[in-house]
Amino acid sequence: MTRLLTMIRIGLLGCGTVGGGVVQLLRTNAASLEARMGAPFELVRVLVLDPSVVTLKELDRSCLTTDAERVIGDPSIDVVIEVMGGVDPTRDYVGRAIAAGKQVVTANKALLARHGAELLDRAHEHGVDMAFEAAVGGGIPIIRVVRDALAGDTISSLSGIVNGTSNYILSRMQADGMPFEAALKEAKEKGYAEANPTLDVGGGDAAHKLVVLAMLAFGARLDGVSILTEGIDAVEPVDHSFADRFGFVVKLLAIAKEHGKKLELRVHPTLVDKDAPLAGVHGVLNAIAIEGRALGPCFLSGRGAGAHPTAVSVVGDLVDVAIAKRNGTAGQRTRAIRLAKRELLPAEDIESRYYFRFSVFDRPGVLAKITGALGQRGVSIEQMVQQGRGSGDVPVDVVILTHESKEADVQAALDVIGKSDFVAKPPRMIRVHG
Ligand code: NDP
Ligand code: HSE
Repeated sequence: MTRLLTMIRIGLLGCGTVGGGVVQLLRTNAASLEARMGAPFELVRVLVLDPSVVTLKELDRSCLTTDAERVIGDPSIDVVIEVMGGVDPTRDYVGRAIAAGKQVVTANKALLARHGAELLDRAHEHGVDMAFEAAVGGGIPIIRVVRDALAGDTISSLSGIVNGTSNYILSRMQADGMPFEAALKEAKEKGYAEANPTLDVGGGDAAHKLVVLAMLAFGARLDGVSILTEGIDAVEPVDHSFADRFGFVVKLLAIAKEHGKKLELRVHPTLVDKDAPLAGVHGVLNAIAIEGRALGPCFLSGRGAGAHPTAVSVVGDLVDVAIAKRNGTAGQRTRAIRLAKRELLPAEDIESRYYFRFSVFDRPGVLAKITGALGQRGVSIEQMVQQGRGSGDVPVDVVILTHESKEADVQAALDVIGKSDFVAKPPRMIRVHG
């Protein structure tokens, strides 16, 4: 039986960094939110693992429960907000909330990258919405832009800085010479990092977000696909210095391009020209550069992580899905998302310019061997520098920038060079943007 919605009843799954931010915004902005939603709202239940560790003063403690059923199985709850993170048991909880006819809001890109299409199918089936603005770019309204504002265009490519933690670390290393571990510690303290920060520094979180973006930008059904993913953990301070010398900064980029029917998706540290807009995006800021076929370039930037920026996106979604529920249009916006299988471009077919750093013993003929191995695979050199002079067992860095080359050729050449007796460490390779 349809209940006349005179009150919007909310259940929250998880009350950590983002959940806490949501509770605070609901309290601080209660009057304006009620005016927008057209009805008062109530935070009815909050699922936590251990109520004794929840100290949020804005929260009525009688809401706290450790029993998920009291949120998902409560027929009086209209909207379930999932900010627990992880794939299990979240997939089950979100799926059950949808099946129970609840409007759902989630910030969980890991869940969406693995099961987003499946959950959207489920939402279509049950006539509800699943909104996920906070899953990409924190407070940047990128999902709305790609899904709604650009509906009159088609997107040919996008590239973005979509992990706040990595960008914070890279910025602190580049601008302040801070060691990696110290910068990561700061990012954790500020609430930017995932519960498992390996996802941030290893590129996995950015890959999840890229899958979510590609799902919307290209209508691609990508549940559980595996894409080329490299993190910032292997970037050394010396790479920042060389990048600077060549006129670049190092950024972790998520890149998507359409090649006919195939999609190229990749996440890796990238040399970005200092004059490019993405190079000026520092700290926790994220940015996404979109290339629309009719629109041309479009650039969005803002805070990509942290309690309040993320909560802004979550609460924005809450307003949307609550209004849809009140208007009897629940499920319409989600039903408009149409997904079809798309083939991915194999990693070996990627074309890019490349930066290589070889740590080599300074012997006669070494440069000729390196350039020979590259030349044999058709990898053409644009610039080369040798820093200082090695002696005996002390190696020296030789850095090369290439012209546009094919990934398969680059990997083959690096394999040969990496096995040579003049090499002290495995070669370092960073792709160049643009
Ligand atoms: P936190 O770890 O700070 O919060 C998650 C909370 O959920 C924790 O309090 C955790 O409890 C609780 N929780 C975990 N599993 C369960 C469970 N089974 N039952 C009940 N409670 C549970 O994470 P965040 O708030 O940072 O992130 C939440 C989600 O938002 C994630 O999906 C994340 O990827 C996403 N997100 C985060 C952003 C950020 O800036 N932090 C930005 C955008 C999205 P406990 O602490 O006891 O384990
Ligand atoms: N850990 C994520 C980041 C949170 O650093 O970007 C925002 O999704």
